[in-house]
Amino acid sequence: MSITLQSAIATFGKAVKEKLSNPVMTGQPEDQLRAPFETLLLDLAELCQIKRDDVTAVGESALTELKTRPDYSVTVRNALVGFVELKAPGKGANPKRFKGHDKAQWQKLQTLPNLIYSDGNSFSLWQNGELVGSIVSFDEDIETAGKNLTPPQGLLDLFQSFFLWEPIPPTNAQELARITANLCRLLRDEVVEQMALGSEALTSLAEDWRNLLFPDATDEKFADGYAQAVTFGLLMARAKNIELATGLDRAARDLKSVNSLMGTALRLLTDNLDDEAILKTSLNSLVRVLDAVDWEQISKGDPETWLYFYEDFLEVYDNKLRKETGSYYTPPAVVENMVRLVDELLKDPSFGLQEGLASSAVTVVDPATGTGTYMLAVLKKIAESVSDDYGEGSVTSAINAALKRLIAFELQLGPFTVAQLRILAEVLELTNGSPTESLRMFVTDTLGDPEDDQGWIPQMFAPIAESRRAANQIKREEPVTVVIGNPPYKDKAKGRGGWVESGNPQTDTPAPLDDWQPPKNWKIGTHAKHLRNLYIYFWRWATWKVFDHHPENNSGIICFITVAGFIAGPGFQRMRQYLRETCDNIWVIDCSPDGHQPGVNTRIFQGVQQPICIVLASRSKKKQDGRLAQVKFQALPLGAREDKFAALDRITLSGDAWEDCMEGSRAPFLPESEGKWSTYPTLNDFFNYDGSGVMPGRTWVIAPDIESLDKRWQALQNAPIDKKEELFHPHGSGDRTVAKKISDSLAGQPQRNLSVAEDKNDVVTPVKYGYRSFDRQWIIPDKRLINRPNPKLWEWHSDNQIYLATPDRPPTDNCAVTYMSLIPDLNSYNGRGGRIIPLWQTADCSDSNVKQAFLDFLSNFYEGEIATEDFFAYIAGVVANPAYTERFQEDLQTPGIRVPLTADLKLFQEAVSLGKRVIWLHTFGDRMIDASADRPAGNPRLPKEERPTIPRDGTIPNTPEEMPDDIGYDASKRRLLVGSGFVENVPPEVWHYNVSGKQIVKQWFV
Ligand SMILES: C[S@@+](CC[C@H](N)C(=O)[O-])C[C@H]1O[C@@H](n2cnc3c(N)ncnc32)[C@H](O)[C@@H]1O
Repeated sequence: MSITLQSAIATFGKAVKEKLSNPVMTGQPEDQLRAPFETLLLDLAELCQIKRDDVTAVGESALTELKTRPDYSVTVRNALVGFVELKAPGKGANPKRFKGHDKAQWQKLQTLPNLIYSDGNSFSLWQNGELVGSIVSFDEDIETAGKNLTPPQGLLDLFQSFFLWEPIPPTNAQELARITANLCRLLRDEVVEQMALGSEALTSLAEDWRNLLFPDATDEKFADGYAQAVTFGLLMARAKNIELATGLDRAARDLKSVNSLMGTALRLLTDNLDDEAILKTSLNSLVRVLDAVDWEQISKGDPETWLYFYEDFLEVYDNKLRKETGSYYTPPAVVENMVRLVDELLKDPSFGLQEGLASSAVTVVDPATGTGTYMLAVLKKIAESVSDDYGEGSVTSAINAALKRLIAFELQLGPFTVAQLRILAEVLELTNGSPTESLRMFVTDTLGDPEDDQGWIPQMFAPIAESRRAANQIKREEPVTVVIGNPPYKDKAKGRGGWVESGNPQTDTPAPLDDWQPPKNWKIGTHAKHLRNLYIYFWRWATWKVFDHHPENNSGIICFITVAGFIAGPGFQRMRQYLRETCDNIWVIDCSPDGHQPGVNTRIFQGVQQPICIVLASRSKKKQDGRLAQVKFQALPLGAREDKFAALDRITLSGDAWEDCMEGSRAPFLPESEGKWSTYPTLNDFFNYDGSGVMPGRTWVIAPDIESLDKRWQALQNAPIDKKEELFHPHGSGDRTVAKKISDSLAGQPQRNLSVAEDKNDVVTPVKYGYRSFDRQWIIPDKRLINRPNPKLWEWHSDNQIYLATPDRPPTDNCAVTYMSLIPDLNSYNGRGGRIIPLWQTADCSDSNVKQAFLDFLSNFYEGEIATEDFFAYIAGVVANPAYTERFQEDLQTPGIRVPLTADLKLFQEAVSLGKRVIWLHTFGDRMIDASADRPAGNPRLPKEERPTIPRDGTIPNTPEEMPDDIGYDASKRRLLVGSGFVENVPPEVWHYNVSGKQIVKQWFV
């Protein structure tokens, strides 16, 4: 009797009811669905015109806990079509609503290209995480309906879509990168899960992997390396037109005949596993999806197609990993120009290689080759040069000759494969399809010990070990003329620099990086930690290889694009000294003139915030020992990335746009105009005295009004004796207590010879207090209550005194220093510690805190008396200026506020007048009063029409109940919101204004 949809469903209903009502049911509820579902699947296949015998559903009975493995994989005529995941009846078929384990499982499985979810009652079909059609449900309850179950609408269509699924071939490289990355991630997760379950095959493979390639690889790292290697191996096989469906074993063998290294990698990684099929969900999906890829159609023969493939891949696969491995791939516009500049230099008489990169004497290494962009650009440059010089017909032989001299190292098999694909495609084109040489590309850790060929290497790994050995031989024996590239960036990379960082303790080989450690007597040890960055390790490796390791052959060029820390950072002084002593010319191109946190559209690498530079360091044959290199500098223009590329196109080494950098072996690689920071005097250089602000040790002695302080004092007085101590808040370790007597008072304040506990007098009259920048409060000036009052500040205080508050860590926003007229708190700058510099060292202002010798020097220099106040104001005009904090942001990271001094008297006076206004504003019109200069006494006010006001309906609540916990801002109405009240006419600049992160308006409230 032939099947109908009705009969298939009735059979399913009957079988499910029997199973679920069985009183001796064993296993999970979803297990009861399995047998009825398998029959239903075959019945529905038949109704979709597919022979029952052609369909196989392979089940995973005992593995309900797996997150990466659905219950069934379904094949039709041995080709994988998709997967089925069954859930306990009642859970539904919408995985987006799942929780806990089911949710975590869905997050992994959603990358599958064709997947049915069902709890018996409902069915849904998902392709690459998207629901196909809608969720289909029975009207009846399957637990009770039995043979009366009726087919819901859409069920057959759903299964038809499932059975007839064919992978849709991606149409471009980006799409391919996305699909591949998703499946690669599933493969990685499957490896992690299988290793946790104790898979012997994977565990021993991981062991071999560690022995050979990455000794420190965790299981997760192995899983990642494994998944990428297999995925890219399969991709490469497809690129070579090798079919995968005939078996991974065979594909690996075929691949090995065209690419021994990748073939071996694929073979060893998938061997053994094939039989056990332990990674089948992802591997089978990969095979099915990649087999559909039409490589030629995607690449259209254009090697550039692959340019961003690996970056696109990493973004979907694991963006964190991309950041960790520093994998940002250089735009061709930058690479081509770096190659062009190196070519120009080789042709210069100082090197005398008229053919530049095409010269047979030049060996080029890219030590972090990624996807091979530099190698491609070098090949193209050579082709272009010889074609220009000798005609197109000479290109094939020149490229074949060049292949012997171009060397690439890369650690990760993923980008390595892409590099091979790209370069091979280019070489085929440049040699008219007939390369006679193979590529010299190696999977190796560039920073690893060049002597380390040893160790146990299983037979299967031979080609990979061979790659490392060959790379080591190059590292040891082959002189190199040019090292070019974009090495990875990763700070705090202590322990990740291999041999370059640690040497080989067994053979007593010192670490090359040691040569760049600043000597102790330079006293910059705290900055030396910045040397522990991957890009510095690569700089050291390159200089070791080109300049140090082959003394008889030590001229050459290094051209890297990297972050720019080493150009001026204090920790890199020994590195700069080495470069100046070793090279004869160094060119620096500042690629990030846009300052701190530049806009994304201005960046050369969109994902990299740090300043970037291109540095070309050369030691020609003409280098004279003892003469320091000349360092030249130019910056790309501010603004859009495209403008920077265009400017880069125009740069030549012989051009006249270069500025000479500062001299001195350790000086920053910056022109005089830019690198002066370290030559500016620090604030401490100008003043006799700087000290801490007042440290009360308890906040109750400070309040925004006198009344509160009065009440607190009374509460303390009236408290029973055993409660007084608690209200007082002593800290111990030498702090005041209620019982302690103090024999003196703060200058100008009444003396009380009683302990606080005994004192029945009124509170010592509060005085105004500089609690924070722009936050004036009151303090009880009673020495018995203040832990460390800094008596000097009280002694020198007067109505003419001015305090300069500085932070003790790098300022980040707006004023780098602030000014006060009130005795300042310890944390007055922005609540986080700092120093206080008073203007006067006496209350009668007879003694200036500015060093007399310095004032004399200024007066002499400007040929006129410079007043103490004027110099104080000059600092305000320059250092309390937001432009200062912004411009010197990088420099300020090295603690210490430095003050640029102008030689121009007019400019000095301009800064003084600006600074007086700043001090007048900072001190709320208490200081630098001069009505004729529009600085009248008293609170500075805006013109009436610009003033913030509180309208009638904005009345600010003043009962504790109505007072909100926080205040807010409505930008569209320019209103400051305080509970039910508000202040009108508050510009956003006011609301957002902050002193190095401390938002002032908010601070007034909290
Ligand atoms: C910033 S990317 C640059 C890639 C390529 N040069 C470009 O510009 O497109 C750095 C590359 O260095 C590789 N890498 C990181 N550490 C390495 C090491 N120790 N040895 C060799 N390659 C390494 C990374 O895998 C990555 O592909």
